[in-house]
Amino acid sequence: MDHFEYVAGELHAEQVPLSAIAREVGTPVYVYSRATLSRHARVFREALSALPAVHIAFAVKSNPNLAVLRLLASEGYGADVVSEGEMNRALAAGMRAEDIVFSGVGKTRSELAAAVRAGIGQFNLESEEEGVELSGIALELGRRATCTLRVNPDVDARTHAKISTGKAENKFGIAYDRAPGIYARLSALPGLEMRGLAVHIGSQISDLEPSRQAFIKMGALMEALRADGLSVTHMDLGGGLGVPYKAGDALPTPADYGRMVAEVAADWGVTLMFEPGRVITGNSGVLVTEVVRVKQGTNAPWVVVDAAMNDLARPAMYDAWHDFAAVQPSGESMTANIVGPICESSDTFAMGRTIDAVKAGDLAVFRTAGAYGATMANTYNSRALVPEVMVDGDKWAIVANRIDPATILAAEQVPDWLA
Ligand code: LLP
Repeated sequence: MDHFEYVAGELHAEQVPLSAIAREVGTPVYVYSRATLSRHARVFREALSALPAVHIAFAVKSNPNLAVLRLLASEGYGADVVSEGEMNRALAAGMRAEDIVFSGVGKTRSELAAAVRAGIGQFNLESEEEGVELSGIALELGRRATCTLRVNPDVDARTHAKISTGKAENKFGIAYDRAPGIYARLSALPGLEMRGLAVHIGSQISDLEPSRQAFIKMGALMEALRADGLSVTHMDLGGGLGVPYKAGDALPTPADYGRMVAEVAADWGVTLMFEPGRVITGNSGVLVTEVVRVKQGTNAPWVVVDAAMNDLARPAMYDAWHDFAAVQPSGESMTANIVGPICESSDTFAMGRTIDAVKAGDLAVFRTAGAYGATMANTYNSRALVPEVMVDGDKWAIVANRIDPATILAAEQVPDWLA
């Protein structure tokens, strides 16, 4: 559920008509609903309330906007970060260093050092090599780094191949069978405090069974480590819970997920850690766009909008579906192809889709764009970097400015020898 609803014939974000934001900020523009974000944060936490000890680290990559992070910090969330840039955002938003988890397969030496200096709460190690390097860095800095070992459980998450991470052929984590030996060796290093295991099998997961299988395997591994006399006090179960993108899609709810986790893990005797991203931010945001023109097509009209694959990459990258709706629907519908202005055919949002009838100048939204939307935007075709707005009741504010092509141009220079 979200707080984007029609009031008197116009789509509103909470109490704000989207046309008011479009008029002042221009389009395309992302609009987030504070009430929806808070609600999702609370629903997810509530879904885990039967578990004895829980730490939630919001996956910053899904929506790293500073205002979004500040809001989630105020809901008691920590952060799951994958770069120094994300770490600094989480800290700037007021998250406590000890509530931050540092994930990622390619943390550099300087990122590891910066994170040790900042006092980051947990490193999810993705290799023995990384653990050895981190131990050395921590000792040099007179610290010990608290870690888990990310394990690849070789389970198929049954999601899009480009966002699956838990199969043996994926780059993530340590092979399941090699984990006990590596965990034991890393536990003996003086610069590390190994406290558990981490797993994350993929994103936009729409079936809980693969996660359940992965968690059962992780529980067995935890028992094996303990039987070897090794300490396991924390188990990080990652993120990945999917959200409905199409009206009518039925997905497992956070409550279903919480029940499944409780069945598998309630008696593990650990702090359970979670890294939700999309389930918190996904339907907390829409991308508002204006129809540039409707061009006659062979099979169906082309609705050319002013948002493009550089603003919302998911359809081009993952063939993702985002519902499209007019801000002020006329009540008529049409079947059309929806495309952006970028000069390649992957700049396609939908083909042959039945949508609200629209014409040049109309405003429309792509729904469920709060996760992996603005954060994946770029400036391809020398377009602006898309701005972001947050709504709270009847007030709203720009939370990320549009970065104009002129600003980007100003960062480039022609060397003397070309002048
Ligand atoms: N933890 C780790 C280690 C991850 O790699 C991810 C996402 C998450 C947590 C959060 O997953 P979530 O709860 O949001 O599913 N750009 C793609 C999604 C990439 C996900 C990458 N990792 C998309 O637009 O669908």
